[in-house]
Amino acid sequence: MVECLLPKEKVAGPNPVCRSSLGEDKQVPRLPRVAKYCGQGFSYPAHLIMENIEQHSIKQFNAWAKDYDKKFHLPFYLFNKTVLNFINPKSGSIILDVGCGTGILLNQLFLLNKNLQLYGLDISSEMIKIAKNKLKEVEIKKGSASNLPYKNNIFDYVFCANSFHHYLNSEQSLKEMFRVLKPKGKLILFDPFSNGLSRKYLNRIINVLFHEGDTKIYSQQEMWRMFEKVGFIDIEQKQRWFYKLITIGKKN
Ligand SMILES: C[S@@+](CC[C@H](N)C(=O)[O-])C[C@H]1O[C@@H](n2cnc3c(N)ncnc32)[C@H](O)[C@@H]1O
Repeated sequence: MVECLLPKEKVAGPNPVCRSSLGEDKQVPRLPRVAKYCGQGFSYPAHLIMENIEQHSIKQFNAWAKDYDKKFHLPFYLFNKTVLNFINPKSGSIILDVGCGTGILLNQLFLLNKNLQLYGLDISSEMIKIAKNKLKEVEIKKGSASNLPYKNNIFDYVFCANSFHHYLNSEQSLKEMFRVLKPKGKLILFDPFSNGLSRKYLNRIINVLFHEGDTKIYSQQEMWRMFEKVGFIDIEQKQRWFYKLITIGKKN
């Protein structure tokens, strides 16, 4: 069970019907987008919270998919370039991009070295459709970061770009990325971050303004600790463009 800490009346109202990841329609409780952070309360089974919030993400990113590259390709492409300047995977490396979206990073990796074995995963079928159109030879699966459909110890690198702040169960997702990495494999995660006290308010505002599922910006220290807790070693962090944090961890 996952604790939801909002006062009960805030989640009252008709329960929406959601299509679950298993394909059937079912009623899930109407949950506040900020379920993860909030107040005093009551609890829902973890899988119901996961499903409902993931439904928000899927709906939102499916709607965004059409114009996503028009809006975000250039900034994300430029940022990815700064990362690929110091992460230069050698030929033959097996690489997974979690939350790959429309495949901006996968495409850059493909152009960087045609001898990389690339895989992508995203929760939004519309984002995946666009990625697949660009990258016919890359295997891109639909799925959630919290339950990666891959065997243990198979990737040399896992990338997670601009996606982690959408994950409800962030630690579980990090554990999954750790699990699928080979020993000595590396996770390269980059995401917006904020160290200030304002982060708490920022996180609430984001969830009120946007409907991308549950969104949480972490601090540099929180991210480091999460990496450490999951078992990563040789953790490195770099700040770029004042709001982005790159965290790299190695599996022992
Ligand atoms: C802001 S986009 C970033 C996409 C891409 N990595 C990029 O840099 O352009 C966030 C992506 O994360 C995906 N996403 C959100 N929650 C997810 C989850 N739980 N598991 C996998 N992907 C998820 C969304 O569908 C979306 O494509």
